Amino acid sequence: MRTNSIDSAAAALQAGYLCAIPTETVYGLAADATNPTAIARVFEAKGRPSDHPLIVHIADGAYLGEWIRDIPEWALSLTKKFWPGPLTIVGRRTDAALNVVTGGQDTVAVRVPQHPVALELLRNLYSAGVPGLVAPSANRFGHVSPTSAEHVLADLGDYLSAHDDLVLDGGLCSVGVESTIVLALDHTPVILRPGAVSSADIESFTGTPIGLTRAETPRVSGALDSHYAPRAKVLLVSESELHNFVTHSGVGLIARDDVVTPPQCVRLLAANTNEDYARDLYASMRHADELGLETILVVAPSGDDVAIAINDRLKRAAF
Ligand code: TXA
Ligand code: MG
Repeated sequence: MRTNSIDSAAAALQAGYLCAIPTETVYGLAADATNPTAIARVFEAKGRPSDHPLIVHIADGAYLGEWIRDIPEWALSLTKKFWPGPLTIVGRRTDAALNVVTGGQDTVAVRVPQHPVALELLRNLYSAGVPGLVAPSANRFGHVSPTSAEHVLADLGDYLSAHDDLVLDGGLCSVGVESTIVLALDHTPVILRPGAVSSADIESFTGTPIGLTRAETPRVSGALDSHYAPRAKVLLVSESELHNFVTHSGVGLIARDDVVTPPQCVRLLAANTNEDYARDLYASMRHADELGLETILVVAPSGDDVAIAINDRLKRAAF
């Protein structure tokens, strides 16, 4: 089930099987974006509500017009700047985007991932007549997203092996939080989900002020109040509150490395930078569950960079 072979992954996807794929953000559970039967199994494998739309992953920004029409100029220049990379554009769909992909909406989400294995796979498939792959994060619905092949196997291994599906191992994800989702319907960029491409990046690049986040309007499952959650209870605390907690061996700590670990507490993450924090966050939450910890104390990072995305995920994990 687990493979390093891009050719085997491409053959399986063409034949209608699922294949978990590495991307720079998190692992995705991929299916041929033009195969409704395979796509239905993506929802089944994840236990995801069937009206939640999926992101279409493509090999090159040059193919964007196959999926999205009437794209605003600012959005097109954003894709030229940040693709391949952790940016997803939601725009008016063409007929290529199936209802099972868009959840019946008149918009579709598209991105070009920045992972050499994913890109080679997408290019091979494009030449073979598969124009794109849908790929939601390869976790059980509501759980923490996977940043390694092991995480995918822990969540979905039973399902995938029972159905002869594959996991393409591309090592650890370098970004660690899901892509920034930007709604591109008119002159104002609207961020539906923060990610490593920050609103400051988008504002300074487009010269256009960002509209308010409108996560409730189109469906974004990552925008549910409770999501990205480990089994352990996640408590967001300030650095000063931290040292008032009576800690014991059932308590873990996630924080930047300048935060001192309280007595007996299990240190799960000591990140040197906000980028490191993002990259290792989900693995550290999964580690807490492997250790059977009851509680994870989290001191959230600050800043207007990927810290905003981290804070967003932490709030939902703590809900
Ligand atoms: O980094 C990522 O984006 C990862 C990797 C695998 O590419 N994928 C990912 O997929 O996070 P998923 O399905 O877990 O999250 C995609 C989000 C969902 O919250 C979904 O509701 C939203 O994108 N989405 C997809 N199509 C949309 C649309 N047409 N309008 C609004 N939101 C949409
Ligand atoms: Mg997800």
